[in-house]
Amino acid sequence: MKIFLDTANVQEIKRAVELGLIDGVTTNPSLLSKEGKEPVVQLKEIVKLVKGPISAEVVAKDADGMVREAIPLARLGKGIVIKVPLCEQGLVAVRRLAGQGIRTNVTLVFSSSQALLAAKAGASYVSPFVGRIDDIAGNGMALIEEIVTIFNNYLFKTEIIVASIRHPLHFVQSALIGAHIATIPFGVLEKLMRHPLTDRGIEAFNKDWEKLKSSLKK
Ligand code: E4P
Repeated sequence: MKIFLDTANVQEIKRAVELGLIDGVTTNPSLLSKEGKEPVVQLKEIVKLVKGPISAEVVAKDADGMVREAIPLARLGKGIVIKVPLCEQGLVAVRRLAGQGIRTNVTLVFSSSQALLAAKAGASYVSPFVGRIDDIAGNGMALIEEIVTIFNNYLFKTEIIVASIRHPLHFVQSALIGAHIATIPFGVLEKLMRHPLTDRGIEAFNKDWEKLKSSLKK
């Protein structure tokens, strides 16, 4: 499973790139807004750091506007993937962008029918939001299972990005189900590395090592 970092924060991206585990980045207008910089300037910085796909979202309401916004964004770098919201005009824009060879990530997907339509429209990626479904007492991971089955049934090339991941269990379940990609916030990446038994084990090994060294000095 590929791992994308779900952030627009350059420091977080630098740390994740250094780890060598990050295959791409997803941003959205809220994440870019948190950084407080001109979005294009911020995206240019991200492009310098990341080799893989970087999702940059359009905010226009109609397909013409979305395509107009997408073209200069796509020129920021080879890795740029245009994030388009799942709506009627969004699907029209996805089809047009696919025709121009511009990759898209259809976002705000909350049902398997939406995912199927996005794949048929020519989306390179779909982003179902598991955390937001769980937030309203739904079952986000059940949606991922459905989409994986549907895409396998019809051999769609569209990749599934599990988005709105809130905790390590979402990540593990994504891998068990066979989703192509999980996009995770930096905080979740940190949690994935840690285990209390690992911390306790390191501490015990270090203590015993020091004990041995001081007994050898005597
Ligand atoms: C990523 O593509 C999504 O925009 C992001 O995962 C949404 O996460 P949230 O539901 O925590 O805002």
